[in-house]
Amino acid sequence: MKFVPSLVAVAVAVLTVGTANAQDYPGTKPVTFVVPFAAGGPTDRVARDLAEAMRKTMPGGNFTVENAAGAGGTIGANKVAKAKADGHTLLLWHIGMAATPGLYRKLPYKPLEDFEYLGLVNEVPMTLLGKPQLPANTYRDFENYIRANSGKLNIAHAGLGSASHICGLMWQHAVKLNDSMTTIPFGGTAPAMTNLIGGQVDVMCDQTTNTTSQIEAGRVKAFAVTTAKPLSNHKLLKDYPTLQEMGLKGFDLTIWHGLYAPKGTPEPILKKLNDAMKLALKDPEFIKKQEGLGAVVVTDKRMERAEHKAFVAAEIAKLKPVIDAAGKFAD
Ligand code: MLT
Repeated sequence: MKFVPSLVAVAVAVLTVGTANAQDYPGTKPVTFVVPFAAGGPTDRVARDLAEAMRKTMPGGNFTVENAAGAGGTIGANKVAKAKADGHTLLLWHIGMAATPGLYRKLPYKPLEDFEYLGLVNEVPMTLLGKPQLPANTYRDFENYIRANSGKLNIAHAGLGSASHICGLMWQHAVKLNDSMTTIPFGGTAPAMTNLIGGQVDVMCDQTTNTTSQIEAGRVKAFAVTTAKPLSNHKLLKDYPTLQEMGLKGFDLTIWHGLYAPKGTPEPILKKLNDAMKLALKDPEFIKKQEGLGAVVVTDKRMERAEHKAFVAAEIAKLKPVIDAAGKFAD
């Protein structure tokens, strides 16, 4: 007579295998951070620094980084939303997780339902930059030059819904120069930066993790930072005014980065990853690297999974009216 296992027996078997996998996690299979932008940009930078720190805090974790660019980061995000929920494919993404719902009418995933939230990592200021030949040396000159050349200049970004795109939208809206510049999308702000340095594009707003070294080397011009408070603790960035100081009331943009897994990843694996991430955020080497690039590593409750998710839900609600006012749909 053929043995037909009961449903209970099958469920126990599946759970046992799942738990066994969780206990053996990560095993030898790589743990991939999917970065939804081209290599060499600010998001990629955060991912590589965090992967290096988590190799120490989750011994045996073979952390790698994979770049999956396009559509302002939503292609990479969707890749992870649809990935196997086994803890080996994670998403390292930024404010785009909360900005894209306001810019894309048809996202292929649901931000608050299709991911497990593994914690917030850091917060990064942005800088408003010009190509080296731009005839301006102060923010005032910069704004006057853009105004005097409305319709003739371009601004680079990393795709609709990217942080660089959001920053450009918010800045143009704040100075009442909406649609005054042609936007030039790239797969990330690393290729965009190459074009800014080369003078092929005129302006870009990007995260200090990508711009600090270029500003220091004099390869681009910087005019302001996007945070509400001056970056007084940073040896280079302290010399640049905030946009609020330049009269843009309430302008305050900081780019946060979070870590995500596909929905349904087993609880023991999620706990292991969140524990390792929280330890990595306390790693003096990781902190030193991030602070050297103007970033602030998260030290509050948002490094916890539930608080990370609540924060992103609040950011989605906060950004929607800002994007409605400043931008237009990306799809
Ligand atoms: C962005 O603009 O969203 C990011 O800076 C893009 C990137 O990390 O390359």
